[in-house]
Parts: sequence; C-alpha cells; structure tokens
Amino acid sequence: MTAKRLATLLLAAMGILFFSCQSETIKTQVTSPDGTLTASIGLSDTGQPYYWVAHKGTTIIDTSYMSLEVKDLSAFKNGFTITASETSTMNEDWEMPWGEQRTVNNHYNELKVSLEENTVTPKKMNLIFRVYDDGLGFRYEFPEQEGMTEMLITDENTEFNLTADHKVWWQPGDWDIYEHLYNETSFSNIDALSKANHPNLIATYIPENAVNTPVTMKTNDGLYLSFHEADLTNYAGMTLKVDPASLKMTSELVGSEILGGKAKVSLPFETPWRTIQIGEKAGDLIESNLLVNLNEPNTIGDVSYFTPMKYIGIWWEMHIGKSTWDMEGSQDMNTYIEGSKNSARHGATTENAKKYIDFAAANGIKGLLVEGWNTGWDQWINTEDREGVFDFMTPYPDYDFDEVMAYAKEKGVEVIMHHETSGAPRTYEKQMEVAYNFMKENGMNSVKTGYVGKIIPKGEYHHGQWMVNHYEKVLKDAAAKKIAINAHEPIKATGKRRTYPNAIAREGLRGQEFNAWATDGGNPPNHLPTIAFTRMLGGPIDFTPGVFNIKFNEYKEENQINTTLAHQLALYVVIYSPLQMACDLPEHYTLDGQTHPAFQFIADVGVDWEQSMVLDGEIGDFVVMAREEKASGNWFVGGITNEEARTQSLDFSFLPQGKTFKATLYKDAPDAHWDNNPEAYEISTMEVDSTTNMTIEMAAGGGFAMSIMAP
Ligand code: NOJ
Ligand code: CA
Repeated sequence: MTAKRLATLLLAAMGILFFSCQSETIKTQVTSPDGTLTASIGLSDTGQPYYWVAHKGTTIIDTSYMSLEVKDLSAFKNGFTITASETSTMNEDWEMPWGEQRTVNNHYNELKVSLEENTVTPKKMNLIFRVYDDGLGFRYEFPEQEGMTEMLITDENTEFNLTADHKVWWQPGDWDIYEHLYNETSFSNIDALSKANHPNLIATYIPENAVNTPVTMKTNDGLYLSFHEADLTNYAGMTLKVDPASLKMTSELVGSEILGGKAKVSLPFETPWRTIQIGEKAGDLIESNLLVNLNEPNTIGDVSYFTPMKYIGIWWEMHIGKSTWDMEGSQDMNTYIEGSKNSARHGATTENAKKYIDFAAANGIKGLLVEGWNTGWDQWINTEDREGVFDFMTPYPDYDFDEVMAYAKEKGVEVIMHHETSGAPRTYEKQMEVAYNFMKENGMNSVKTGYVGKIIPKGEYHHGQWMVNHYEKVLKDAAAKKIAINAHEPIKATGKRRTYPNAIAREGLRGQEFNAWATDGGNPPNHLPTIAFTRMLGGPIDFTPGVFNIKFNEYKEENQINTTLAHQLALYVVIYSPLQMACDLPEHYTLDGQTHPAFQFIADVGVDWEQSMVLDGEIGDFVVMAREEKASGNWFVGGITNEEARTQSLDFSFLPQGKTFKATLYKDAPDAHWDNNPEAYEISTMEVDSTTNMTIEMAAGGGFAMSIMAP
C-alpha cells in the first residue's frame, strides 16, 4: 500500500480528530494489540521525522519532532527518507524472581522505521516504536555505518507535544537529586527554577525550566499520562524541558562538563526508550508493566541469594538525633542534625546492634541494617575532598564486627551491609572488589549504597552518563559476587531490575528521613498519595516506612511525621519494595514491655507478591491497593489519604470465591488526625470472603491496613 493510500484510509478512520495533524503526511503507523493506541510516524517537508499518538482515535500527543545533535557532524534531523519499515509482534510471559506479581505479560506491536539522509555521505538512523495497550516506548537506533565508529551526542531533542494544558504532578529536572517534593500545577504553570536552593539538599542543580521523570498528568478528558524512560543504559538521564507557551516538552539530557556533551557512544547504539504510559484510571499507571517489559531479560541468572525481607536498623536514631554515625564527635552534618558537632553519641555499637538483633529475632523481622559501623563518618560530608574517606572494611573500635555477625547468625538475623560512598564513585570502584569479598566472607548478601553530596570529580552529575555507567557497574560487579544492591541517591529506576534483579530497591525520592530533619515542614500528607502515581511507576522504593512515634518530641520538637500511624502501616502495601524497613526505634515498637499491638501488621505483611491491584485512587489524593502474597495466599490491603479525611468503600471481589479468610483491620480511630492525634488507631478482626463489602473511614492524613489470612 502506498503511503498516500494509507493516509487516505486513516483520514477516513480518524475523521475530524485527525485534522490537528492534517498538514503532515502519515508515512507509517503501528497500533497496539487491542487497537487502543496508535503511533504514527511521518517526515516533514524538510525530511525531519516526527510522531504522534492517538488513544481510541483521539490525538493525545500531537505532532512531535525528533532529532539529535552530535559534535563535529551535522545533526540527525533533516533530509531523511524512509528506506524501510518493518512491523513485528511479541506476546510472551516472563516470571519475576521477586516483584509486584509473579508473571508479566509482554505484548506489543513493533514498528521499525529505517531512515537515511538524502546526501552524498548519508547518515542512517532507525526509529523503533513498541506500542502496548497501556502505553508505548520508542528509541533511536544508530546502526553501524561507514565513517562513524563513535559519536558525542550534544543534545537530544525529542518532543512531547501535549494537546492541552493538562494538570501535572512534577518535580524539577535536577541533574543531581530526585529528593524534591512533587508539585501539582497546570502544565503552563510549571516553574522548576523556583525550586532551586532547597535548604536541605546538598547536591542540587536545576539549570532550566525542566521536569524530571516520571512526570504524570491528567487531561481534561480524564485520561492519565506518565512520561519516563526505560532501559537507561550507557546514556545520560533525560529531563524534559517545559515550554509553557506551546504546551510542549523536549528532552534535555543531563550533561557533563568533563565530557563537554551529553553522551559518548560507540556504534551500533540504541538510546533508552522514551515512554508514555496511558491509563483511563489513575491506577492503570501503577498496574502497567511497560517499563520492565521494555528492558532486556535477566542477564545475571539466579538471584536466590536475595530473599525479599523486612528489616530494622540503626538508622532512624541518627536521623532524629538520638545518636550519631561517627564516634569522633567532629562531624558537622547540620543538614541532618542541628548541633550534633562535638557531641558524638555513636549509634553503631556492639551493644546497640545486639539490642536491635534481639528485637528482630523476637518479632519476625529478617534483616538488620547498621549505619555508621565503619570509620570515616567524621569527615564524610561538607568537605570538598571526600575521596578515600571510607574503606568499607574498618569498624569503629566500639563496634565488634565479628561479635555482631556471630550474634546475628545465632539469632537468625541477616545483616545488611552499608556503603556510603559520599559521592566519590572513583574511590568506591577501587574498593568494591575487596569490600564485596569482605561481605561474602561474612555471609552478607545485600548492601545499601549511598551517594550523598556533589559527585567527585566536579563537573559530573548524579544523573549523567558517567554515573549511569557507574551505577550499572556496581550492579554487574555485585551480581558477579551474588550481592544485591539497594542504592540511595541513585540513578532513576527505569525497569533495569528485569535485567539485573539484584537491583532490589532504591531511594530516588524524598524518603522518610526528610521528616526527621527537613526545615520545610517535612513530607506533607499528600506526599505518598502522589509518589504512588509518579516515582513508584519506575520501580521499588526504599522509603523506610513504619514510624509509630509520630512526633518524636523527645528528640526533635520541630519535626514530625505528617501522617497517622495507620497511614504508616498502609505504606507496606501501597509503596512497593522487596525490602521494607520498619524504621522506628525498638523502644517505639514496645508498649508496656510488650511489642506494640500494631506491629503485628508489619510482622505479618508480605514482601513478595503473586499479584497486585489498585482498588481505587486519584493522584495526590488517595490510593488503595491489594496484594496477594506469593506462596501463602494471604492478602494485604492498604489505603492512604492526603490531608482530607475520606470514607472508602471496599469490595472484596478480588478474593478467590468460596473461601473465608480471617482479616485484621488496623485503622484510624474516629478522632485521629495526622497533626492533632496521629497515633490513635483501632484494631478489629472479622471474617471476609469475595462477597464482603465494607466502608472504612480514613482520618485526615490517615489510612488503613488489613491482613487477610488464607484459611
Ligand atoms: C542518605 C540516605 O538516604 C540515608 O538513608 C542514609 O542514612 C544517609 N545518606 C547516610 O548514608
Ligand atoms: Ca537520601
């Protein structure tokens, strides 16, 4: 069929809605398996490629141009002709070793368009579109071609042309950190530069009015869109530059002053996928598997050395200022703890570690994280030269490493290693081999890494190509030693956990820690109802929920958690991670010498899932999820709300028919309130089956959690 005939047919099919693109000629297109989505690709009069996307016949991404600029060469932009166009289909199921669900269906139609310039020495570039029923991904491919082995990409200009001034949940396109709050504004009111200079962010760089991804939107027609990237490999992270006037976003890659560009690549090369998730309900975005599907299958084999688990740790006590990471008393980390200088109260002592181990063993918690166990914390922050500060081998003298490890082993508790690199990846790369061997010799299978501070060398950023490659090297080298990684201050999650399932979790958001010391009031009640539909689309989050002592006035009167206790419980279901911390202090989980009654939910809740579903939710307002635990057949339901109280109806038809389950409900007491009365909760038990319906009241900033145990 000629392109013209195809265009005519399409015009007939798409009717008036097509007219927004009428000046363009469709060259080729691809439709999702059930026909919901169509991506069309064309060439402008000057031979520049563009695409647009329709949902059920309505244009949702209008004509969006594509190009890349390269050092010492003309741009990959104009003068292209289409030399070939191929389609193919994939429909496969694959198994997650751990995850939100056991089996993932990967079903898409692919279109590969080969482009060649109309010049004497033509450059070649292919566009690959994979269209699913719940979204699409597209990438640029640079095939091997004469006279080109390498290129330095200085800019990628992929447009996302919106059809109206949508409502957007965004955070600034910071090259160094994802620890900003999400903002809710119309697209035309995005002002990322107003978010610069946050008092609690040590490393932050927002060069222009751009947003980071995932960035999520709601259209006036009630459609939900989220823009992100998948398979970020050997390339720079993508921010999206905002043009409020034309309602257009354009990719802006994170740069490097050392490289003098954005990404240096060898041919053949393919960029990460630029992704758009599309849902008719907000929850569809969470249920979508687009991002993992657009990554390569597992290349590291068996990861059974890591089992999903809950953990406690010598951690929150440093953040609230009860103790310190260092024992020298010389640290000055006023970002974390006001006035801790010269008042060291070392947290990671042998005795304290044993106290945590006892609590874990007595309460069914498998893991223990110990921060501040190794020397170097007196100089890890606020210094320009942070190379060589940590060696990841030498414990502080009051921490008997062998004794703690032996005690943990005896009690059946697994110790999680901690490597704070303090933003010095070169030092870390030199030490990784020895540090990982040391871990394995001591029976440790997972490590929490951290990259606090500006990256050394100066001129590199957390989200540039150099660091993308560092984070991947860590995953690869760790996998070779059978070690799993939970990275803080990481690169964004783009579904690479499919390829490297030892990438168990990461931070990459404003975590619980901000409530301990942020000077802007901490995370507001709408934080996690927003995170679920934005950051969480990328993958597992080490948010570290579970604070029971909501006000912690004993340590910091000016800070608090801005949710109820029941909301904290619900996070174990709502915020997905195969590694979930119960972050509060053992004494805060103890009431009258007994384990706090609400801790039973944390002890019971699963961390590895057969299936997950969103029962209800609106971005930034509330979200209710249900997950079925692998193997046990137990179900867990969690609901959280923002600063508004609400009545939530629950329909249990997700349960298998004909079975009666014993349920325990943990909910806000009638007078609970995130600020006035956050710890007031109620526990009740009942029988439920697939025909049960009930309503549950969530307090302002509140929530509920329910364990539903299989018979
Ligand atoms: C930042 C991490 O997010 C936090 O969890 C950790 O305690 C500190 N860095 C120290 O490594
Ligand atoms: Ca952090």
